[in-house]
Amino acid sequence: MQKISFSIPERAGDLSYELKALENTSSGGAFSERAKTLLQEIVPSKRSYLTSSGSHALEFAVAVYDIGCGDEVIMPSYTYYSTANACMNRGASVVFVDVDPRTMTMDASLVEAAITERTKAVITVHYGGVSSDMDLLIDICRRHNLYLIEDAAQSLGAFYKDRALGTIGDAGCISFHSTKNITSGGEGGALLLRDEDRISYADRISQHGTDRLEFLRGEKDSYTWHTLGSSYIMNEITCASLYTQLERFSQIQNYRAQIWNRYRNKLSELYTQGLIEWQEIPIWNTHNSHLFYILTEDMKQRGELQQFLHERGIESASHYRPLHTTPFGREHTRFFGNDNHTTSQSSRLLRLPLHTQLTDEQIDYVCDTVSDFYGVSLG
Ligand SMILES: Cc1ncc(COP(=O)(O)O)c(C=O)c1O
Repeated sequence: MQKISFSIPERAGDLSYELKALENTSSGGAFSERAKTLLQEIVPSKRSYLTSSGSHALEFAVAVYDIGCGDEVIMPSYTYYSTANACMNRGASVVFVDVDPRTMTMDASLVEAAITERTKAVITVHYGGVSSDMDLLIDICRRHNLYLIEDAAQSLGAFYKDRALGTIGDAGCISFHSTKNITSGGEGGALLLRDEDRISYADRISQHGTDRLEFLRGEKDSYTWHTLGSSYIMNEITCASLYTQLERFSQIQNYRAQIWNRYRNKLSELYTQGLIEWQEIPIWNTHNSHLFYILTEDMKQRGELQQFLHERGIESASHYRPLHTTPFGREHTRFFGNDNHTTSQSSRLLRLPLHTQLTDEQIDYVCDTVSDFYGVSLG
């Protein structure tokens, strides 16, 4: 029986760049600059920082906008722990609103009602390269004087209208974790800032709260401590790994798009018969083929399908457990309004294998197996 993995980290090519990076491992070196230049072509921003993870990019963003004690941040509960941790680690509270059941992204039309005098920011999570209605979110944030942060961990290369996801809000946070379309060798991320106004502050935060970058640029004789900060920055060898993959970004994206389209075409019969649902791609998005999921009838059927696939050598995965339903979330977070869709939809969601090692035959085998489960012959 063949074994089909759910996810295989994107291969980094040969190790020539990493070996070169070992010659000078000081951070902010040549590969950091080269990787940022390529990243800039995909997600143009006023300033980008390569970070040690997507989680650190989120923490960094929250620090840059001084989100902390007494502040509330609105976000979906259907997200990874990092989105909430970033805020709560600094003493802010998180308030969840429901998702749009068609996309599993935050329902932007619910956000305004959740705003209080303590609300400081909205973090929208682009799920698999699909976004909420960003025009509506921008309008709400502008009228209420809130920061808009994009958790674009999964969304490098995706668009809202003609704008790259991660470059629309005040800040965008990308992940290069091994499960993402491209990886910097396991862990990595990027913070993108849209406007000039916070750059010098962000520079200092990135250097433990000091003016070290000004010193390195020769603008000061020495450097010292000015504000709170940390060390979020990606090391040079990791930057070299990232650069290797960024060089092949279009090729990787094209291949993933072929896989995604093949799943969609092969499974369309099941969809048409109403046996499964899947992520609807809004007219405003060009997604990045990060994931492919189906929605089963209910949680029980999802478990049965997952087991059926497993017995036939196919790995599949469900995620995220809505944060407000976790032990910590139940005690320390608040869900605004009704959870009409977050929990019910997430309990039906099953992700199918998607990585660039998949062959057409394997995709067909996955689709045939899903169809067998539903007693449908794809012919
Ligand atoms: C929506 C979302 N936000 C943040 C993260 C955290 O990224 P990282 O694993 O790079 O820390 C992830 C990781 O999967 C994610 O899916």
